[in-house]
Amino acid sequence: MAYETINVDTQDHVCLIKLNRPEALNALNSVLLGELCAALEEADASDKVRCIVLTGSEKAFAAGADIKEMSEMSYVDVFTSNLFADTNDRISAIRKPIIAAVSGYALGGGCEVAMMCDFIIAAETAKFGQPEINLGVIAGMGGTQRLTRFVGKSKSMDMNLTGRFMTAEEAERAGLVSRVVPAKKLIEEAMAAANKIAEKSVLTSIAAKEAVNRAYELPLSEGMLFERRVFHSMFATEDQKEGMAAFLEKREAQFRDK
Ligand code: CAA
Repeated sequence: MAYETINVDTQDHVCLIKLNRPEALNALNSVLLGELCAALEEADASDKVRCIVLTGSEKAFAAGADIKEMSEMSYVDVFTSNLFADTNDRISAIRKPIIAAVSGYALGGGCEVAMMCDFIIAAETAKFGQPEINLGVIAGMGGTQRLTRFVGKSKSMDMNLTGRFMTAEEAERAGLVSRVVPAKKLIEEAMAAANKIAEKSVLTSIAAKEAVNRAYELPLSEGMLFERRVFHSMFATEDQKEGMAAFLEKREAQFRDK
């Protein structure tokens, strides 16, 4: 499908989606968010794609929701359209792994979309923030919720109340990002991680993602039960037989998603 505000490029089994509104630092307007969700859903449904990488430009992953588009909206407008609920629901429903590769600004909705992905690889230049407070609003796509789960109450309060930006180094220390890499190597590193994931069985990638995400929704005993049930169910797959046989035979496993 042809898109206006994003570029989509599938190489082997990895779908690379690049936000592309350079004139507005990839601000997330309704067209971009609609296209992003559609592209993610298309990749999720594709038999070829096994992992997705979402990135922006060198200067900005995304500088937030589009302030120009929002500025004239009334309470009735945002309440009746349930602004941003659809984006959160659609991105959260993607079953295949999504890596956010973040360079430059990931602010407001930009930080929130990155947090909707499964993990974040950051360039040394990345800056994360929830500066909505400077606009007379609060975060609306997870900045008070997901960020708090990632970095804890104290840092989340600091970010949401002062609107200050966090460097990549601080974000890694705080557990918001999984690794920090040189800016020039960001896409290479993210694609390498995605290709590593693409080598596994899609069945196990989806199961692992679902199980980790349950850790945010369930008490420990229920989460452990969910994990154990899914772990047990993997023994019904051919890929479990292949994975374990390959280990014993000292060879690479050939997973067939069966
Ligand atoms: N929405 C719309 N346009 C934006 C934008 C945004 N979030 N962020 C940047 N732009 C536009 C600017 O208006 C500017 O356009 P013009 O050239 O037409 O004036 C262009 O992108 C370049 O931006 P700057 O000139 O401001 O670039 P800079 O390098 O001086 O500053 C910045 C970069 C610090 C990121 C600054 O642009 C900025 O503070 N942006 C807004 C960040 C923000 O407040 N984000 C939260 C948005 S609200 C939200 O996201 C709600 C939610 O939770 C869902």
